[in-house]
Amino acid sequence: MSTKIRLGVLGGGGDSLIGVLHRIASAMFDQFQIVGGVFNPIWKENIGFAEKIGLPTDRIYKDFDTLINEELELPEDQRMQVVSILTPNFLHFPMAKKLLENGFNVICEKPMTTSYEEAKILKKTLKKAKTIFAVTYTYTGYPMIRQMREMIKKGVIGKVQKIDAQYYQGWINPIIHDEKQRAATWRLNPEKSGISCCIGDIGTHAFDMIEYLSGLKVDMVLADLNYLYKDNKMDVDGTVLIRVSENVKGVIRTSQIATGEENNFTVQIYGEKAGLKWAQENPNYLYLLEDGKPINILKPGHTYNSDISLEGTKLPPGHPEGIFDSMGNIYKGIAKAIRNEPYDKGEFPTIIDGARGMNFIECAVESHQKGNVWVKLDN
Ligand SMILES: NC(=O)c1ccc[n+]([C@@H]2O[C@H](COP(=O)([O-])OP(=O)(O)OC[C@H]3O[C@@H](n4cnc5c(N)ncnc54)[C@H](O)[C@@H]3O)[C@@H](O)[C@H]2O)c1
Repeated sequence: MSTKIRLGVLGGGGDSLIGVLHRIASAMFDQFQIVGGVFNPIWKENIGFAEKIGLPTDRIYKDFDTLINEELELPEDQRMQVVSILTPNFLHFPMAKKLLENGFNVICEKPMTTSYEEAKILKKTLKKAKTIFAVTYTYTGYPMIRQMREMIKKGVIGKVQKIDAQYYQGWINPIIHDEKQRAATWRLNPEKSGISCCIGDIGTHAFDMIEYLSGLKVDMVLADLNYLYKDNKMDVDGTVLIRVSENVKGVIRTSQIATGEENNFTVQIYGEKAGLKWAQENPNYLYLLEDGKPINILKPGHTYNSDISLEGTKLPPGHPEGIFDSMGNIYKGIAKAIRNEPYDKGEFPTIIDGARGMNFIECAVESHQKGNVWVKLDN
């Protein structure tokens, strides 16, 4: 009998963006096996996709409620052990809550819910369930991000004094200027997406990354968002000033109308001794900046890297690894947690990080709506 962890998948069908990333990531370290799920609410698409990727169809269910009911009928040693939620945002909360209430481990896409209130309810539900809950802030799995975190933890840059994160995309530009197209895009529909598009979709990645890398908690935010059109209820661009403390400040710059940009996510953290810079579109290079010295470039797979960074490198140095590998590393950490093996806290983001993200989104939108004022996060 296979010893792989039995994984169910919700969403992530053939028409989706993120499904392939999770399927490949879950298979990467031979830890998980997809045993079933609901890929699509349309049955023909759902079953057709399962057949296309060669999955047995006996555990492809017509909808989420049927999945829960039928999986609970199975003996525990056959039942799905963990379920990945890869649907549009509004389904994350009801699906995650019911999964937890029925004893499943959960892997949930970001943003974790559509409101901070829902996130707090999920935290309470998880406390009772005592299962594993991971939130896939994908970029935290990159080896050089993990190395950056370790270097900051070890004091290589000294006391942090300036934080700068940017996430620029341009994909909404061809959509936003056409009324029909913007009405047909779920990320621009508050009922499906939550109260924010740009800050919710990519600002949360930047926010999570800052806290992941620095180990610091953002205390206050001041946001200036752009909606472009009066009838558009969702931000498509935003600049957020962040304040960790009186002497640690920074900025999160996000846009989905930065025409022509792809996934231009960069993060820079500067301390009193040095600075560290990383860019998602060139993820195997980590730049160390020091006064009066040439720039140092660190790369994955070399013995000078920390254990957690090396844990996520599969090939000798110089073989580029990318976003699939980053998500694969997150799944690797989740597998350890499910198997009750020791793991580093930095190996996967949890419900705490997911809830922080929701708190951030709501504070940023509130700040903008109140006329660009400082709003305090829960700390
Ligand atoms: N971590 C990341 O870097 C990252 C990147 C992209 C998307 N995401 C997140 O992943 C989620 C999905 O995004 P996407 O871009 O793949 O969306 P998408 O619209 O491309 O795909 C959504 C999928 O969900 C399925 N679906 C819809 N309703 C369903 C239901 N009731 N039951 C089962 N399946 C259903 C659709 O058929 C489709 O396959 C979002 O929450 C998004 O924020 C995360």
